[in-house]
Amino acid sequence: MKTPKLVAELTEAEAKGELARLARVIADADAQYYRDDAPKLFDFEYDDLRKRNAAIEARFPDLVRADSPSHRVGAKPSEKFAKVAHRIAMLSLDNAFSDEDVEEFCGRIRRFLGLADDAQLAFVAEPKIDGLSASLRYEDGVFVLGATRGDGVEGEDITANLRTLKDVPLRIDGAPQVLEVRGEVYMSHADFSALNERQQAAGGKIFANPRNAAAGSLRQLDPSITASRSLRFFAYAWGEVGDMPADTHWGMLQAFKRYGFSVNPEIRRCRSAAELIAFFRAIGEKRALLGYDIDGVVYKIDDLDLQRRLGFIARSPRWATAHKFPAEQAETVVEAIDIQVGRTGKLTPVAKLREINVGGVFVSNATLHNEDEIARKDVRIKDTVVVQRAGDVIPQIVRVIFEKRPANSVPFVFPRVCPFCGCHAVREEGEVDWRCSGGLVCSAQIVERLIHFVSRYCFDIEGLGENIVGLFYKRGLLKEPADIFRLKDHPDEVKAVLLEERKRQSREREKKTGRKVKQPIRDDKRTFKEMDNLLAAIEARRIIPLDRLLFALGIRHVGETSAKLMARQFHSLAVLEASMASDHAISDLTAIEGIGETMAEAISEFFVEPRNREAMDRLVAQVTVLDVAAPAASSSPVAGKIVVFTGSLEKMTRAEAKARAEALGAKVASSVSRKTDLVVAGAGAGSKLAEAKQYGVTVMDEDAWLKLIDGDFAGTSS
Ligand code: IVH
Repeated sequence: MKTPKLVAELTEAEAKGELARLARVIADADAQYYRDDAPKLFDFEYDDLRKRNAAIEARFPDLVRADSPSHRVGAKPSEKFAKVAHRIAMLSLDNAFSDEDVEEFCGRIRRFLGLADDAQLAFVAEPKIDGLSASLRYEDGVFVLGATRGDGVEGEDITANLRTLKDVPLRIDGAPQVLEVRGEVYMSHADFSALNERQQAAGGKIFANPRNAAAGSLRQLDPSITASRSLRFFAYAWGEVGDMPADTHWGMLQAFKRYGFSVNPEIRRCRSAAELIAFFRAIGEKRALLGYDIDGVVYKIDDLDLQRRLGFIARSPRWATAHKFPAEQAETVVEAIDIQVGRTGKLTPVAKLREINVGGVFVSNATLHNEDEIARKDVRIKDTVVVQRAGDVIPQIVRVIFEKRPANSVPFVFPRVCPFCGCHAVREEGEVDWRCSGGLVCSAQIVERLIHFVSRYCFDIEGLGENIVGLFYKRGLLKEPADIFRLKDHPDEVKAVLLEERKRQSREREKKTGRKVKQPIRDDKRTFKEMDNLLAAIEARRIIPLDRLLFALGIRHVGETSAKLMARQFHSLAVLEASMASDHAISDLTAIEGIGETMAEAISEFFVEPRNREAMDRLVAQVTVLDVAAPAASSSPVAGKIVVFTGSLEKMTRAEAKARAEALGAKVASSVSRKTDLVVAGAGAGSKLAEAKQYGVTVMDEDAWLKLIDGDFAGTSS
């Protein structure tokens, strides 16, 4: 990587480019940290980026960007959206539920306009998208303001978020001077499932349906989150418009298309109530294939003059109506209530239903969400219930039919232990979910936990990927972290797993390329080599700093930073465990700046569970846990020094070298300056080495560095 130029030496043009780069890199890091829960930068690297950004902004205040990271504290909501008054109110629609309602809608229009029964009337029929309406204002062809509907009179300014939608053009050609395009923001079924999968993997919020997901994604104070969520927009209405580009609704939609908006491809012109109803039926049949949720169709009078004449009743136009699909509901019996345990330990109750056909789909499970939801609806085993299926979403229980409840029924008691591992379940204050506390031993979570355990910022064991961990688990070789260090005792099985994984990979390749691999994959030299590498990678991690161990445990809420804070406070595992066994565990934890009540509770819950403690003991018997020195230990020769690593290090990774130096109180910088105290140069060091010489900074090689710090980082077996 090129050494970044000193802020003091940047030209204005360079500063501008650099601010743009930093805005992007920091936004990505925020998203990785907050949204994906998967930080890719060390905290100090992230802090350095922010500091550099602030320093450049201080030198060039005129260059501060609208999306500057300094306007944002992480991605945490810190302020509300500004309010926006709609110049023309955003109205809602009247509803029609039956064919008669549709005929009545047409009849009312004829009567209002004084038209004969056989006079021609033109309508546009459109799918009714189940999303959130938004209004986009363009001035001189530039997107200047985007707002939610709000109460119809006043919405919220979500311009920055709407800008991130591919369907929202930022600039349009040939549009009237003022143009407000209105329509629906929505999420496709595919994007919805992908989002929930990502959320699940990251232990984040799972959305109940695409509409909620779209709402949650749109109302983010950090637009980079919205950007990552693939929202779409269909234009179907307008607010203030300078020179109208058309005199029919259909013509307006065609103009929107020319401006670059997406207009729903299913829209049709119709000439009678019968045609409207036929459209409704046709869309109803296509509904499941559209790829996004709709909850009905909307009929609108095409001629804009007629629309003006028809006007409004209360808050809805007389010239339009929404023909809603009936909710797809059916009655059945709850045969059991099962508790599923997710990869993050969440206990989810699921109603096992007597199988029933709901609107063409067989349903035998319905989610009950959580304990409160069961209590609120008072759902019990053997109850007869109304089940509803909306769109692609998991079926829901709408209500219990109490008249059909058997006399001997009893309220459902939510379990207090995990049905998979028997560990106690915890429900945090203010949370609705119960979670299994058996992080290290629960079979429902273990594979996920092990993958975290060996990941880069934890034990960092190369070669133990997701698939391999899964295969070891299936063979009963990996049931808890300590087992990783016992793999060496089962070389035949390890080889078999590596072989199986290679066969799987080759099958994948065959599927992708359509080409058959000629040579059969055998238990050959290559497998031996792979096994050697894997076992060596494991052996290399038998010594582990306390903070990495703590992060690896996968305790809820405990990220890399908190693990470091804990390690610095307690120094050794023995001290930490003693505190956790005491009755002042919580106060010891909350005394650490950066650790709050919720996290402290979670940490304490983890150590309270005897099964976790036993698993810890088995792990610690396999590894040596390095104590973490107090920060800026005055005894260390590098405490308070600014150190730069350059070139390739052979005895440790760059990340490890930095972490060690920091643990000894050194500050690790990425570029050499007059202030640098020490440059550690590995093989192939280049410009930084030259700079160090130029500034007269002390330079040493890796071995000299290790000698210097040796003894300051003595491992103590806990
Ligand atoms: S027209 C004055 N067209 O339905 C008429 N609305 O129930 C404004 N919606 O708030 C609305 N698809 O969020 C219209 N093709 C469509 C629609 C649509 C979905 C939503 C919109 C509106 C709600 C009214």
